[in-house]
Amino acid sequence: MLDDLQEGKVYEVLLVTASNVTPVGVVRRGDALEFKLFPGRSFEDLLKWPFASIQMTNDVELLVRFALNMSANVNIAKDGNHRWIEGIPGWHGSVEYKLEKWRDKLGESEVLLGRFIPRGTIPGSLKPVPVSRADCYLLEMAVHFTRLLVSGDHSLASRILELYREYRRFGGDSEVVDYIIEQVKKAV
Ligand SMILES: Cc1cc2nc3c(=O)[nH]c(=O)nc-3n(C[C@H](O)[C@H](O)[C@H](O)COP(=O)(O)O)c2cc1C
Repeated sequence: MLDDLQEGKVYEVLLVTASNVTPVGVVRRGDALEFKLFPGRSFEDLLKWPFASIQMTNDVELLVRFALNMSANVNIAKDGNHRWIEGIPGWHGSVEYKLEKWRDKLGESEVLLGRFIPRGTIPGSLKPVPVSRADCYLLEMAVHFTRLLVSGDHSLASRILELYREYRRFGGDSEVVDYIIEQVKKAV
């Protein structure tokens, strides 16, 4: 089912759990997709109900909206063990996990190491929109911003502002980014 994904490469997808949708980086290992989740709603959801859908999108703004819990124009469907976003492709399946201690320069926390095993496909299609370098910068900016929010590590702010300059240079213009930059400027 995962044949089109390269082993070992990180892909950014949407993880749909019992009560939440969040972007997550997954790596294919054989017939499974592995990921790492820090504490939050998706983490709590999987502890209680280890089923999920993993779906793909080429709409970077949609990924970022879910990361920042901003409104997103999607419909969520539900059937048996699973919920999923209508219209975009992916898989539904079960999640095996273990919890580990995570230590970095900011201290110690818990991390959920998940293994998603697809049990079936979710039909859908993606809009025929080409890859944009502005979106690559947006993706990086948003990852750094969510790290800044959880860690309070202000050294990330200058990196985000650098990425923002490149984002603008490639024609990027989105209210999602306006929000990120507003928050970053308040934080520094
Ligand atoms: C592109 C992208 C990829 C992300 N990947 C991960 C990830 O693999 N693991 C993780 O814990 N958070 C990841 N995040 C951050 C979460 O989206 C963010 O912290 C979110 O609020 C998770 O909390 P929640 O489960 O309470 O919604 C990512 C953010 C972005 C923008």
